[in-house]
Amino acid sequence: MHSNTRDSFKSKFGAIAALAGSAVGLGNIWKFPYEAGSNGGGAFLIVYIFFTLAIGFPVMLAEFSLGRRSQRNAFGTFQTLAPKTKWFLFGILSIIAASLILSFYGTVSGWTLEYVWLSLSNAFKDQSAEDINTIFNTFISHPYKAVLWQTGFMLLTGAIVMAGIQKGIERYTKIMMPLLFIIIIALSISACTLSGSRKGLEFLFFPKFSELTADSILSALGQAFFSLSVGMGILLTYASYIPKNDNLVGISLKVIFTDTLVAILAGIAILPAVFSFDIDPQAGPGLVFLTLPKVFQSLPAGQIWAILFFILLTFAALTSAISLLEVPVAYLVEEKKIRRPLASLIATFAITFLGSFNTLSFGPLKEVHLFGMSFFEACDYLCSNILLPIGGILICIFAGWYLNKAILYSEISNNGSLKIYFFKLYVFILRYIAPVCILLILLNVLGILNK
Ligand code: PHE
Repeated sequence: MHSNTRDSFKSKFGAIAALAGSAVGLGNIWKFPYEAGSNGGGAFLIVYIFFTLAIGFPVMLAEFSLGRRSQRNAFGTFQTLAPKTKWFLFGILSIIAASLILSFYGTVSGWTLEYVWLSLSNAFKDQSAEDINTIFNTFISHPYKAVLWQTGFMLLTGAIVMAGIQKGIERYTKIMMPLLFIIIIALSISACTLSGSRKGLEFLFFPKFSELTADSILSALGQAFFSLSVGMGILLTYASYIPKNDNLVGISLKVIFTDTLVAILAGIAILPAVFSFDIDPQAGPGLVFLTLPKVFQSLPAGQIWAILFFILLTFAALTSAISLLEVPVAYLVEEKKIRRPLASLIATFAITFLGSFNTLSFGPLKEVHLFGMSFFEACDYLCSNILLPIGGILICIFAGWYLNKAILYSEISNNGSLKIYFFKLYVFILRYIAPVCILLILLNVLGILNK
């Protein structure tokens, strides 16, 4: 079952495309621009980049080291590296968390597919702002349409994962990621030529330090975590397919660079257009499905903009969704000895079924509430605000305190063949700084800090 029979990434570019594909997702394109804009613009950006490098990078590197060392899935990794302990429970938590994230990620991804279709059929042309709101609200509350799109998206995800690491995940991310880059660069360049673009760029880049509150600093850290996909066993599972002679430090830095660049480019592509039409940029999730269609239909060649944008969003969502699905699938294949095609089918259907409740919570199940939230909101809250930080803290404790440092060093330095500077500082951050900072995000979202 180990290294020689196990599938792995064929090329370093493939490994980076897959990992960056996981990191670059809905979080970068729809969440980052308004988070940055409404939390101090350039000041948020500085804090965000600082956290990404100072906290996100060490935790990512730790997760990579664990997965590549064990060459196993999220559950098996802890059984191998911490036999006869309860650490395997953390593996199980990661598998549950990745599946739950995918269950609501699939909802928004399904909407994205509907919007590719609407843009292709030019449905936004000559519609008033109100009509566009109606299109969105009728769609999300429809008794089954959104579930059908979600199922379509999940089947696409399942089909890629079913084909395996090299022939599925690596092959398709190697195509989708470069295309995503080309589209987002083209969109950013055209956005900068719009008349009101300066205001949008200022909103994103001009540092308003007075708007930087403790809250916005913590949101920067939370956003950095979600965006890098750390703490959920995803990086760990993907890293188990990275060949032993690839440099993990180099790969992490490339993934982080790509993720941050796409977030900034998304801001450049979206905010100038929003500003040149005088629309409130803090519209949140509605920004993508309500505001942008309004913006696109008033632009010259708006239909092309809309089609490109929603295809971009689909690629970003799909490359993240396959990384989420791979977590339970790798577990079923390696621990339960189920063949990959069947394992992929089981995981896809189970998660789609679960996810349909999230999707329907915008329509027929609107009135069903858990802790005062709809299914979708509860699932998003639980995963993004609670499970993700807990996962991050546990990774720090495991790699920083439990694991023998010689193992960590040997994995990061490829058995001593690479020179690693600052290893002591690295372990210090992993032991003290990172877990404390992540704990602060957790306490903040739970409202404990504000009392
Ligand atoms: N990183 C992805 C994004 O930015 C989302 C994600 C989070 C994917 C956690 C996997 C795990 O959208």
